[in-house]
Amino acid sequence: MRHLMSPLDFSVDELDKLLDLADDIEKNPQKYAHACDGKKLATCFYEPSTRTRLSFEAAMLNLGGSVLGFSSADSSSASKGESVSDTIRVISCYADICAMRHPKEGAPLVASQKSRIPVINAGDGGHQHPTQTLTDLLTIRSLKGSLGNLTIGLCGDLKFGRTVHSLINALIRYPGIRFMLISPEELRIPSYIREDVLTANQIPFSEVERLEDAMPELDILYMTRVQRERFFNEEDYVRLKNYYILTKDKMELAKEDMLVLHPLPRVNEISVEVDDDPRAAYFKQVQYGVYVRMALILTLLELV
Ligand code: NCD
Repeated sequence: MRHLMSPLDFSVDELDKLLDLADDIEKNPQKYAHACDGKKLATCFYEPSTRTRLSFEAAMLNLGGSVLGFSSADSSSASKGESVSDTIRVISCYADICAMRHPKEGAPLVASQKSRIPVINAGDGGHQHPTQTLTDLLTIRSLKGSLGNLTIGLCGDLKFGRTVHSLINALIRYPGIRFMLISPEELRIPSYIREDVLTANQIPFSEVERLEDAMPELDILYMTRVQRERFFNEEDYVRLKNYYILTKDKMELAKEDMLVLHPLPRVNEISVEVDDDPRAAYFKQVQYGVYVRMALILTLLELV
């Protein structure tokens, strides 16, 4: 039985197959409409979510399966003190597969060790968010044609943003990838990514503070929200929250075929005037998230 904790749990070949399956699902949705008849997905979310939880649920419903779950720690027995290990043993009796989001790094991994069903990490604290990464990879591959030879700008909260950490881990396995890490001093990428992932694998990268300086070089601009819930004090958040705002003016500095991605939710970091720019791909990205989660469910349930 396989779980998904990190994007590296799949080899590059396995990822290619998964993205190919997602492509086929996009083109022939009716072929998969009953692939999960009789199967149940549990969504166990101890932290807020709109997209991730609903896209998992939509994915399972599109496959003919059903869904059950909870959407906050307060409405689950966690509020009575139950451990994730016990909760997953119980969920294993009710469902065939589980997507779990938790504010503590490593909680879904602990759950997977006691689980009788595949567990998917749907975000664990500031650590990893592998299914957002699958979404990002499918979006880039579909809209750019391949995952290699790209200059990728990651902008915003690179310290606490788990989507960025997962995406870097996944992209370094493709040839010709170069990163521009755009953040204020306080929100720089953690050293366990800078040294242990980028430097250790000799991946070219630069760290810059001004978005305008990076803009002309980028093939992809990945904007992120400042992660308020992971700050220790409100003053720091208030000082940093509007550090980057992508506007029409800044878009003029970019290549004509640059793509703007964002895992969403957006707060202020992309001005709504950018939404009509053909390079804005963040709402398309949401749609790709459903196809890739359908592909993931089929793969982990060994239905393909
Ligand atoms: C992201 C997350 O939860 O980490 N959202 C998502 O799943 N699409 C990004 C964020 O919350 O900023």
